[in-house]
Amino acid sequence: MKISLNGKWKYKVDSNAEGMKEQWFSTEWYSDRLHNLPEISLPNNWNIIPELDRYEGIIWFFYVLEDHSTIRVNFHKSDLFIEFKAVNYHTHLWVNGHDCGIHEGNFQPFRFRVKKKMYNQESKNYFIVRVENFREKDRIPTLSRDWFNWGGIYRDITLLVLDKCRIKWVGITSNVHNNKKAILNVKCELLIPKDEKSIPTLEENNINWKLYYLGDLSTNCNEGKEQSKSEVIKSGNWPILNGKNSGQFSIQLEEAKRWTPITPYLYKIDLSLGKSEEPYIVRFGIRTVDVKEGKIHLNNRPISLHGVSLHEELLPYGRAIPKEARRRDVLNVKELGFNALRTGHYPHDESVYEICDEEGLLIFEEIPVYWGINFSNKKVLRLAIRMFHSMIRRDFNHPCIILWSAGNEIPVLNRSCLQFMTVLLRYGKKIDESRLFSCALEFWTSLVTPKSFIDEVDVLCCNEYIGWYYLSVYNLNFFLDNLKTHTSKKPWIITEFGAGAKYGNHDSAKIPAKFSEERQVSIIKHSIQVMNSKTYISGWFIWMYRDFRSHMRLNPAQKGFNRKGIVSEVNQRKKISNQMPSLVNRKLPEKEMKQHYISVVLFYWLFYPIIFLTSIIVSLILGQFSDSGNRYYLSKPKGK
Ligand code: GCU
Repeated sequence: MKISLNGKWKYKVDSNAEGMKEQWFSTEWYSDRLHNLPEISLPNNWNIIPELDRYEGIIWFFYVLEDHSTIRVNFHKSDLFIEFKAVNYHTHLWVNGHDCGIHEGNFQPFRFRVKKKMYNQESKNYFIVRVENFREKDRIPTLSRDWFNWGGIYRDITLLVLDKCRIKWVGITSNVHNNKKAILNVKCELLIPKDEKSIPTLEENNINWKLYYLGDLSTNCNEGKEQSKSEVIKSGNWPILNGKNSGQFSIQLEEAKRWTPITPYLYKIDLSLGKSEEPYIVRFGIRTVDVKEGKIHLNNRPISLHGVSLHEELLPYGRAIPKEARRRDVLNVKELGFNALRTGHYPHDESVYEICDEEGLLIFEEIPVYWGINFSNKKVLRLAIRMFHSMIRRDFNHPCIILWSAGNEIPVLNRSCLQFMTVLLRYGKKIDESRLFSCALEFWTSLVTPKSFIDEVDVLCCNEYIGWYYLSVYNLNFFLDNLKTHTSKKPWIITEFGAGAKYGNHDSAKIPAKFSEERQVSIIKHSIQVMNSKTYISGWFIWMYRDFRSHMRLNPAQKGFNRKGIVSEVNQRKKISNQMPSLVNRKLPEKEMKQHYISVVLFYWLFYPIIFLTSIIVSLILGQFSDSGNRYYLSKPKGK
């Protein structure tokens, strides 16, 4: 059973960090002050309250569950939890003054168990939550990040009453064959407690399942149509013998409808353990993704990712964005001709991935291991592993997600970082063998990618801002050819490129001024055509669909926003978006491919060694080289 605790909560700002000392977590303290505390509707970021717009610190939230009659809990048969879908950043919960624990993290769900002694069956229940979102060195992300530090309880809050004996998690993968046949592998993890009382009798101790075909649920396909009734296409049961708590079974389909961005066909499976009332429901799609002959393949066919990135932010909501607004974003991205979305740099609300499953958009999802976190701290590594595990397990069954990213612009030339990322990537591959793994490198590191890192990823991802932060966009062609490495048949994805532009700021000069829409067009337009002309590039993502708030962007054109969006922070379409969708697949004319190459060859032979030596020296200063034989591949075009 699920009871939503969304709605009006009281709150109190604790800017002097007095709450713990004054015991704001006690029901006596709270019930004496209940009436004169302000209210906020949760889930929400507290920054939507004008006086708290830039507040970073501690805020306490208070909720009284009056209607205890609806929630009778038989603690012999059931467990009681309070689940938060996401809180930024540090959460501490008390129920009726009992300490239920703390959680650290910012973009993923977690739950606290509420024990019998903590819960009142006959009277009110007080839920008190202390939330703190300071930026700290040993957190993920660390002190600096190029996004706004939205604080608070910003995704759903739910009371969960669950059978003690239950299905804990289900993961579905599929093997597609060249004909229409497919084999579904259904992996189940159960919670079967030790004591006899709560275990169903043996004949009940199996999993009954029903498989439904849902078809194409995309808006375009269903505009104005009656929601088609899903039909059961197969059913059965799987005996879990000897009370084992995990295992998997297979389901063979003769006529499997594969999920692709063009045909986002979906299925659903209901699983019931014994005679439990509420089935465990999983919606999924049938598709495979892998790398073959240096290309990303979807259902055994090569595919190129043409995408944009998106921060989870929409004014005036902050991160607590209504589902219909998220769907509008996805439909707009598709309408502009893109087939992929990078939900940078962290897991968004799960509804985004449900929508992308339905509308057909490929996803690159990431945890916020961002820039220079404290790679030599074991506690930080354990936190990163927990975040990676949580993201993969939460979103495992979304067919739209094809790649898990373990981080962004991390200094892999530094030994501690390389070891940290190796552990993380290997851990991820153990829990999901059905997807690609990588992490995004910044451009200069990409030029000297250590082989020990190349071996750990399925695709190589590079963020480049040639033409915006450095060099001219006409140098891009030359430098991209330098990304190829002798050691790798692995494809490259340009995970970030782009330029800033303030909406409405125009310049008709031959070389338009920075932050003009025309400058943004010139950089993105040329970049896309060059990338589409490179066979070893399997995809690219424009950095950024929409302008977003950032503490770091304060010049007169930015005024607190990163302006690399192709639409403004209120969805006004900039000039570059009017070039779509025709620009998305366009290649550079052959004659232009060699333009500016000559001018840059000089650069190559004059300055490139300096850049390479500088990056080596910087890496030596920053840390040590990876210990795998120091074989750095100074990559240069074959035959040069
Ligand atoms: C970096 C980083 C982004 C940032 C972007 C920028 O590559 O990955 O998070 O917003 O560049 O400079 O705008």
